[in-house]
Amino acid sequence: MAVLRIDRIRAAAARELKGATTSAELEAVRVKYLGRQGEITQLLRSLASLPAAERPEVGRQANELKAEIEAAVSERLVAARAEERRRQLEAARLDLTLPGRRPPLGTLHPLTQVNDEIVAIFMRLGFSVAEGPEVESDYNNFEALNIPRDHPARDMQDTFYLSEDTLLRTHTSPAQIRTMKAQRPPVRIICPGKVYRRDAPDVTHSPMFHQVEGLAVDRTISMGDLKGTLELFAREMFGERSRIRFRPSFFPFTEPSAEVDVLCFNCGGTGCRFCAQSGWLEILGCGMVHPQVLRNVGYDPEEVTGWAFGMGVERIAMLKYGVDDIRLFFENDLRFLEQFA
Ligand code: FA5
Ligand code: MG
Repeated sequence: MAVLRIDRIRAAAARELKGATTSAELEAVRVKYLGRQGEITQLLRSLASLPAAERPEVGRQANELKAEIEAAVSERLVAARAEERRRQLEAARLDLTLPGRRPPLGTLHPLTQVNDEIVAIFMRLGFSVAEGPEVESDYNNFEALNIPRDHPARDMQDTFYLSEDTLLRTHTSPAQIRTMKAQRPPVRIICPGKVYRRDAPDVTHSPMFHQVEGLAVDRTISMGDLKGTLELFAREMFGERSRIRFRPSFFPFTEPSAEVDVLCFNCGGTGCRFCAQSGWLEILGCGMVHPQVLRNVGYDPEEVTGWAFGMGVERIAMLKYGVDDIRLFFENDLRFLEQFA
């Protein structure tokens, strides 16, 4: 009886093992026959209730079957697990030949780029870089530059005052005073930096903007040197075919004075809204340093002469890149800024 039962179990287990392919299914077969409540486990447990004569043979066969099933399940499990692992790796496959994803990279602000370019051009010409503070004394910003308190020229640069005699510098020209007070001629410096004016914002005006001041003082410095230097600068910055013009102007700290215009990038000279119909865009003011300014810093105007200029970085960037509204530089719109990568 019991031996028949063993044969039946063997046949059933063999059938089920054949049908089991996954490790979970194989595990289920093992539990069904060899687990705590498994059929063979129960059979072995019931040996005691068999007639004594049958016990050894049934016991032997049951243990044999137990070993058989154990071996078969283990062997199949190894293969099934390997196959499952293979499938899993296949599904999660990494293609190492795919191009990587680029992390977004910041770039220098267009004004920084143009500022750096201006500085580089003048460094190549032998100028060195001087710096001055944005909070300046009324004396350095105006008085020493020959602009006394009641001078009408102060209206040209409507000022943010911090106190009676301190202000946000309205131009980089106080750097001329600081430099000349600190060193003897010859002087050849540029000073880049931020300046502030109570200008109403429009397409070409911003209340905060950037200038680069230039100053050269020596024994035989002439207006011709100034013109040559600025023409060379314009060719380097805007290309060989660029056109600039010198227009007589007035600054209390230079004599004679001029302003330099570049042909309008927007209309090419015919006149448009951008250049106030003139066909030209002003980029800088310049002139021969006024003898009184030289005297103010303790230089002798009989011995040395000099020239100076102050250029607007935003205006130059606008001309170089065809930007038709200065406010775009300060709005931090990435769609605009990313074009200058
Ligand atoms: C001056 O600031 C003089 N200090 C320049 C100078 C230096 C003359 C040395 C002689 C010797 P002006 O106010 O014109 O000059 O400004 C110089 C340049 O700054 C202008 O040509 C223009 O390019 C730029 N600029 C002036 N105002 C603004 C503004 N509100 N927004 C943007 N750029 C401006
Ligand atoms: Mg001007």
